[in-house]
Amino acid sequence: MRVLVTGGAGFIGSHYVRELVGGAYPAFADAEVVVLDKLTYAGNEENLAPVADSPRYRFVQGDICDAAAVEDVMAGTDVVVHFAAESHVDRSISGAADFVLTNVLGTQTLLQGALNAGVGKFVHVSTDEVYGSIEDGSWPESHPLEPNSPYSASKASSDLLARAFHRTHGLPVCITRCSNNYGPYQFPEKVLPLFVTTLMDGGKVPLYGDGLNVRDWLHVADHCRGIQLVAESGRAGEVYNIGGGTELTNRELTGLLLDAMGADWSSVEMVADRKGHDRRYSVDITKISTELGYAPRVDFAEGLASTVRWYRENRPWWEKLKARANG
Ligand SMILES: NC(=O)c1ccc[n+]([C@@H]2O[C@H](COP(=O)([O-])OP(=O)(O)OC[C@H]3O[C@@H](n4cnc5c(N)ncnc54)[C@H](O)[C@@H]3O)[C@@H](O)[C@H]2O)c1
Repeated sequence: MRVLVTGGAGFIGSHYVRELVGGAYPAFADAEVVVLDKLTYAGNEENLAPVADSPRYRFVQGDICDAAAVEDVMAGTDVVVHFAAESHVDRSISGAADFVLTNVLGTQTLLQGALNAGVGKFVHVSTDEVYGSIEDGSWPESHPLEPNSPYSASKASSDLLARAFHRTHGLPVCITRCSNNYGPYQFPEKVLPLFVTTLMDGGKVPLYGDGLNVRDWLHVADHCRGIQLVAESGRAGEVYNIGGGTELTNRELTGLLLDAMGADWSSVEMVADRKGHDRRYSVDITKISTELGYAPRVDFAEGLASTVRWYRENRPWWEKLKARANG
C-alpha cells in the first residue's frame, strides 16, 4: 500500500508521518509513505528527521498546484491524506491570494490527480472554522458553511470541491474538520508556541480584544488518530468532525501558559482585536465517536505540560523558524 501525504513537513502532517512510518497505526504498518510538500515558510524537513532513514519513506519537494508534479507523485497511490495548506488566519487577512491558490486550486489539482490515478481513499483535512462562529451548542457536520476569514473561506471552498469530486465522479473522499491543534513542532506564529517562546525570552505576549474568544483544544496526536480512523474506515462522501473536548477562552489559555512559564499578567499586552475574529468554535464529535470509536485521549493539562517542555528543550528548532518568519 502507498500513502501520499501532502503538507507532511508542516506541524500536523509531520506528526502523522512520524506516527505512520514509526508503526503507530497497525493497519498501515507496511505502507510506503510519500510526502509531497512545497516547503513554504511553514514547511520544515527537520520535522521529518526521525523517519528520514526509513526505507518506507520518501520526500518529494513540490507544489500541489503543479498538475504534472501531482500526476507523477500520485501514480501508484492507494490513499491520499491531504494536509497541505496555507494555514495562518492572520496571514490570510493581510493577503489572501496564496490561500486561494494553495487551498482551492491546489486541492482541485490533487482531487483531479487522485481521480486520474484511481486512488482508493482521499482524506481531505479541513477545519471547524468553515462553520463560522457559534454562541452556544456545537456544530454537527450538517451545519451550513459560514466561513468568516479568507483562510476559512478558502478551506470551505476546498471542502466543497472535495464533496463535488465525490458526488460527480465517485472519488472516495472523506473530509475531516478539527478544532485548534496544539503539540510539539507547531510553527511559532500560532498562539500557543508564540506565547511559550516569547515568554521564554522574557517578552510580552499579545492578547486579542477582550480575550474572551473561545477555542476547543485538540492534541495533535488525537487529531492524527482521528484522521487515521477516517482513512481506514470513514465512509466515502462523509464529513467527520474531530474535537479535543477542552474549551478555553484565550484569556484562560493565557493564564495557564503564564503559570507554566512562571510569568504573570504584566507579560501580557492587550492588542486590538483580529478583524472578523470568530467568537467561539465548537464541534459535535458524536458521528466519529459512534461510527469509528474516536475519543480524545490526551489529558489537556498533561498535553500542555509536555508541549511546553518540548519548546523548552528544542530552542534551536524554533529560534531558526522565528528568525525566518521575522526576516
Ligand atoms: N493547526 C491547526 O490548529 C489546524 C486546525 C484545523 C485544521 N487545520 C488544517 O490542517 C492542515 C495542516 O495544518 P498545519 O497546522 O500542520 O499547517 P502548517 O502551516 O504547519 O503546514 C502546512 C504544510 O503545507 C505545506 N504547503 C503549503 N503550501 C503548499 C503547496 N502549495 N504545495 C505543497 N505543500 C504546501 C507547507 O510547506 C507546510 O509543510 C491544514 O490543511 C489546516 O488547514 C489545522
